[in-house]
Amino acid sequence: MHKKIFPSGNAMAAAAADIIIDLVKDMPDALLCFATGNTPIETYRLLVQKAHDEQVDFSRCFCIGLDEWLGVAPETSGSCHYILHQQLFSPLGIAASQVHLFDGMAADPELECKKMNILVAEKGGVDCMVVGVGLNGHVGFNEPGVDTKLGAHVQELHQTTLDSGKHYFDTPVPIRKGITLGLTHVMHAKLLLMLANGTHKAPVVKQLLQDEVSNVLPASFIRRHGNGWLLLDEAAACMLEEQVLLEK
Ligand code: GLP
Repeated sequence: MHKKIFPSGNAMAAAAADIIIDLVKDMPDALLCFATGNTPIETYRLLVQKAHDEQVDFSRCFCIGLDEWLGVAPETSGSCHYILHQQLFSPLGIAASQVHLFDGMAADPELECKKMNILVAEKGGVDCMVVGVGLNGHVGFNEPGVDTKLGAHVQELHQTTLDSGKHYFDTPVPIRKGITLGLTHVMHAKLLLMLANGTHKAPVVKQLLQDEVSNVLPASFIRRHGNGWLLLDEAAACMLEEQVLLEK
């Protein structure tokens, strides 16, 4: 793992956007995986802007979503599907044929997981995965205690996740479970970008870097990732001990 601390959330987002842009320039047919949430909003805004400014061609890449709320329809504002289309796919001109997202309304969520596992395997794994960190250390919907050997799976959500989740929606939604790529996908991503910004993330960032690597805090596994980049702003890094701050 590599760690970088930026003076602001905007600087962190600009660096993340640059990394994705460079990857797509080098590998136009890359398989990209994107999280939603508040953390990557600025990264996605800058990615769209840089893609336009530098005329980067996204027409051959393929995009998947990291996770989705089970029981929430794609067209519901606040669903991961809705957000990714609004923030990324539409402005980047990425066609529906280049995207595969979990369907939160799937009659058979297990089949939905199988389809995603097959797709990722057929494409030879994810080339670049962008993830955030939940307040409880989750990645996607891999909640504390998750079986680290799982691929895509359905996960009962913890109360912290349900509480933060409500804020993404304009109207109340009956969420209880999520559908997510597994930690095996996260760990096998050829490039993993984990972003955290803001003082509210400082306690979990401290835990993920200073506690043991374990499924008690799924995000801590980035420390075992050979090409994992933990990108932080100073606010998210504000609780780190001097020695940890100095480590690269
Ligand atoms: C949410 C999403 C994740 C996201 C994480 C952090 O529940 N399902 O994909 O990365 O939790 O969210 P935020 O960036 O809003 O803190």
